[in-house]
Amino acid sequence: MNKFPHTFLWGAATSAHQVEGANIYNDWWQAEQRHALAEASGQACRHYELYAQDFDIARELNHNCHRFSIEWSRIEPQEGKFDTLAIEHYRKVITDLKTKGIEPVVTLLHFTNPVWFSQKGGWINFRLQKYFLRFVDKIVREYAAQVKFWITINEPLVYSSHAYLLGAWPPFGHSLFKTAKVTFNLAKVHIKAYRIMHKIYREKSLAKPMVSISANLQAFEVCQPTWKNKIAVYLRHKLYNLYFIEKLLAKKTLDYIGINYYGRNLADTGSWKIRHLLLDTCQSNHHPLRKNSLGWDIYPQGLYKLLIAVKKYNLPVLITENGICTQDDDLRWDYIREHLEELHKAISQGVEVLGYIYWSLMDNFEWDKGFSPRFGLVHIDYANQKRTIKASANKLAQVFKNSEI
Ligand code: BGC
Repeated sequence: MNKFPHTFLWGAATSAHQVEGANIYNDWWQAEQRHALAEASGQACRHYELYAQDFDIARELNHNCHRFSIEWSRIEPQEGKFDTLAIEHYRKVITDLKTKGIEPVVTLLHFTNPVWFSQKGGWINFRLQKYFLRFVDKIVREYAAQVKFWITINEPLVYSSHAYLLGAWPPFGHSLFKTAKVTFNLAKVHIKAYRIMHKIYREKSLAKPMVSISANLQAFEVCQPTWKNKIAVYLRHKLYNLYFIEKLLAKKTLDYIGINYYGRNLADTGSWKIRHLLLDTCQSNHHPLRKNSLGWDIYPQGLYKLLIAVKKYNLPVLITENGICTQDDDLRWDYIREHLEELHKAISQGVEVLGYIYWSLMDNFEWDKGFSPRFGLVHIDYANQKRTIKASANKLAQVFKNSEI
């Protein structure tokens, strides 16, 4: 039996737009109405209304923490107009979690922006950061007394690349220059937000909060061990995995490292051009691995390798996402079990890990992929919003109960 620390946080994550439903004031909703995306989020899981029922399930499954995001466009649907009902809603959400013995882990930006913010230019415009910082200031003042763990930005590089380079997410850009600019702006805004957040806790004489980002780390591996591939892997690891974290560390603005980990990226390129070095992956199914329903390689060892790679930063780590979309619930359990084993191995090698948060508590709206990928521990029947606990969720509940696998 592998034992985890007794203080370990165990839970699952969601994000507002993916589960709440009717998020009508953000840029995703707007793009969905224009049919710019495969599917519209619509009512999603109606979690905005059903959150208490969903947290009952989480409690039943022995979760002692829960990660969710506060939807900026609900709090500030129009520039400068804050919706007190929305502020009260999230207060109820936090209180409900606390009452159920579940520690909230709160994300402030998870891929969606208010329409008014994106119409002004969104994250490309450096001067607009002040609006996000005003939102952060307001929200953190409201909930500081009840929240210890914060994530300012979810996967900044995934956001900047999907929205500004790959043209997959609003505002559907295709520019390397804009991607770099947005990434840079997001790093800057995190640094400022971090300082504001800590200042608020000091002013309120509260114990220091734990503030981080959720960084999406991938296990980059070479297909054939050519020089091009080796350099591609080196660059990708430095740029996609470490660059953002190191930028924030240089300013001492991370209290822990939030890691989202899904799997392997098999680099295979025949070109020295930077775009190819950074993006080309093996298309020939060399070194085949089990895959999730979106075709992503399942690679539990990668989690161990990455945890060992970030050990040098001497900061605790929180796994803020790890999960699989599949219709095969046995495969889901294998995925979870194998990743927890690798996580335990890293802990036994001296990596300080605060907890493990599975993505996701329930099936939900998977962005440009729509509703078909099913990541949830809880199955959602979208026709009637019925929740059904999957067998993997019950097995995970046993791990959570005894903190051992
Ligand atoms: C994101 C989630 C997403 C999940 C699965 C992460 O990149 O934070 O919003 O649903 O991965 O793709």
